Amino acid sequence: MSNRKPLTLHRLREMHASGEKIAMLTCYDAAFARVLDAAGVDVLLVGDSLGMVLQGHATTASVSMDEMAYHTSCVARANRTAWIIADMPFGSYQESTDLAIRNAVRLIQAGAQMVKLEGGGWTAPIVAQLVERGIPVCAHLGFTPQSVHALGGYRVQGRDARSAGALRTQAIELTGAGAAFLVLEMVPANLARELTQESSIPVIGIGAGAGCSGQVLVLHDMLGLHPETAPRFVRNFLTGGATIEGAVGQYVKDVKEGRFPDDTLHSF
Ligand code: KIV
Repeated sequence: MSNRKPLTLHRLREMHASGEKIAMLTCYDAAFARVLDAAGVDVLLVGDSLGMVLQGHATTASVSMDEMAYHTSCVARANRTAWIIADMPFGSYQESTDLAIRNAVRLIQAGAQMVKLEGGGWTAPIVAQLVERGIPVCAHLGFTPQSVHALGGYRVQGRDARSAGALRTQAIELTGAGAAFLVLEMVPANLARELTQESSIPVIGIGAGAGCSGQVLVLHDMLGLHPETAPRFVRNFLTGGATIEGAVGQYVKDVKEGRFPDDTLHSF
């Protein structure tokens, strides 16, 4: 049994300030929450990717609030020390700030310590209202899976000067609104490194290179369960006879020591 103390937002901010990398993985149930927490994963993300990974849908769009609250409560029940972020699913915050507040409250009551929502400047007023009500928020920029149809598929974001500038503006707006974490997905490594250096809050990358404050992967991808559909920024850690515990421990070690991701193999 690990003697790690429960992670707090204060501690995560200290890690960011001191340059200690933050290791984050998605987690959807109690069985894996126990393993990931014991292996030293800092942040468990109850991601709406569960719609694709667990339920077999083509996108995350159909995941409901009831499902997110259910999976969040399963993870929270088994977790001891990791920080838990739960995704606000598609449709749970787009309509109004009141709806967003009601749904974020449900996720916190289910055991999340922070909620994540996707999108740029239009989400800033929602973020501000949630933060004002005591709900920590993680923003999510770059490729945002809930907008896959609008973005024209799984494409790297911020490749040209105009869209890189828009990402920078959005990151500033969301930080100004009080977001305490930022996930950057599928963004060129150089841009992600610059945005991280400019940021006062931890920036967690996925397909965004090694220069971020931490990394996140979808658990089932890094365990090599769907190699045929895994994006190129994924590494399979469950190789060579490793156990799941060993694979997750290796991921934590490689993120902390800067050995994952590799800017040539896993980045854009
Ligand atoms: O839902 C999810 O798993 C996510 C990650 C891809 C960051 O949002």
